Amino acid sequence: MNKLNVAVIGAGSISEAHLNAYKQNPETNLYAVCDLNADRARAKADKHGAAKVYADYRELLADPAVDAVSVCTWNNSHAEISIAALEAGKHVLVEKPLCKTVEEALRVEEAVRKSGKCLQIGFVRRYSSNTAIVKQFLEAGELGEIYYAKATCLRRLGNPGGWFSDRERSGGGPLIDLGVHVIDLCWYLMGRPKVRSVSGNVYNRLGNRAHVKGLSFYKAADYDASKNTVEDLANAVIRFENGASLLVDVSFTLHALKDELSVKIYGDKGGAELEPELAIVGEKYDTILNITPQVDHPTFHFTEGFNREIDHFVDACFGRRETLSPVEDGVEMMKILCGIYESAEQGREIRFDEGAPGAGPHA
Ligand SMILES: NC(=O)c1ccc[n+]([C@@H]2O[C@H](COP(=O)([O-])OP(=O)(O)OC[C@H]3O[C@@H](n4cnc5c(N)ncnc54)[C@H](O)[C@@H]3O)[C@@H](O)[C@H]2O)c1
Repeated sequence: MNKLNVAVIGAGSISEAHLNAYKQNPETNLYAVCDLNADRARAKADKHGAAKVYADYRELLADPAVDAVSVCTWNNSHAEISIAALEAGKHVLVEKPLCKTVEEALRVEEAVRKSGKCLQIGFVRRYSSNTAIVKQFLEAGELGEIYYAKATCLRRLGNPGGWFSDRERSGGGPLIDLGVHVIDLCWYLMGRPKVRSVSGNVYNRLGNRAHVKGLSFYKAADYDASKNTVEDLANAVIRFENGASLLVDVSFTLHALKDELSVKIYGDKGGAELEPELAIVGEKYDTILNITPQVDHPTFHFTEGFNREIDHFVDACFGRRETLSPVEDGVEMMKILCGIYESAEQGREIRFDEGAPGAGPHA
């Protein structure tokens, strides 16, 4: 059997999840690691047994032995590296968010179309087994039509610093970093309806609160708290063409009693909660039923999620399955995220329906 030679570009915190998942997939050969920081790339390659190390992604992409890449760099290079990889004939798994702007997303979409290669966006929660369980109920029609969803991802203290808090490199704060996960998950489960309008608010009231002691949190590989140009809280209402709506709030820091993660969808026959506890709500014989699936991972499980995501990507590279998170969905997600930032900046609703004032796409 010919194995897929894979390379990981960007050897920081999340690369570890990709490297571990590729190692456990019997059809991949972990071939190379690349990072602007060559020492970091070498350390990861040594740790995980990759043969090659690169500091320049262009040199890596010129290597004909590479079949597929994971793009785990800062958000500002996702589009550039993904397009270059597709043009070099490589399959691409690009971390979320797809990129920083709608314009970039459309360019990646065009490159996918031209190359005929597989591009999967790292919407890892779509691949999680608790999501797959809810999807089965949805596909069997047991929840009916989903008309409302609610997603919350609040960190009381959790600005990862470094590039995450530099808007130039990240494209924004908790909305583009955390909101992308929970908005995408709801939107995916709602059946990916077309977005009609967004209305959002962003706040930068608390700064990054790097002075707070005693609580640990996720940090960028080059943690640096000296620059912070991103919001610390965002909220939004998103309306879809089918009349459904999604309410979301996310924070890097907030004076909340505890962190909160909650993802819930409501249909006209039943509902489902994916976080903080997997549960399905239905009705039978005039009685409301709360169903609690008995599984090893009732909520998102980090290792399981990444393993399933990467197994699916490998299947897609071999042409056995379609990816669950194609580039078109990344374009729609960038429209939503950028629309929310634009709405907050302008203090008004942004409409996407044709002919509406301010109709997207927005860069
Ligand atoms: N799916 C998830 O749950 C999840 C979780 C965390 C991060 N992420 C995403 O993963 C990406 C990386 O995040 P992280 O936390 O690992 O950041 P990080 O700062 O820990 O690591 C990023 C690495 O990329 C390298 N890099 C940046 N630009 C590069 C370039 N042009 N060429 C080569 N290397 C480059 C940096 O030197 C750094 O080592 C981000 O897009 C982030 O949104 C996803």
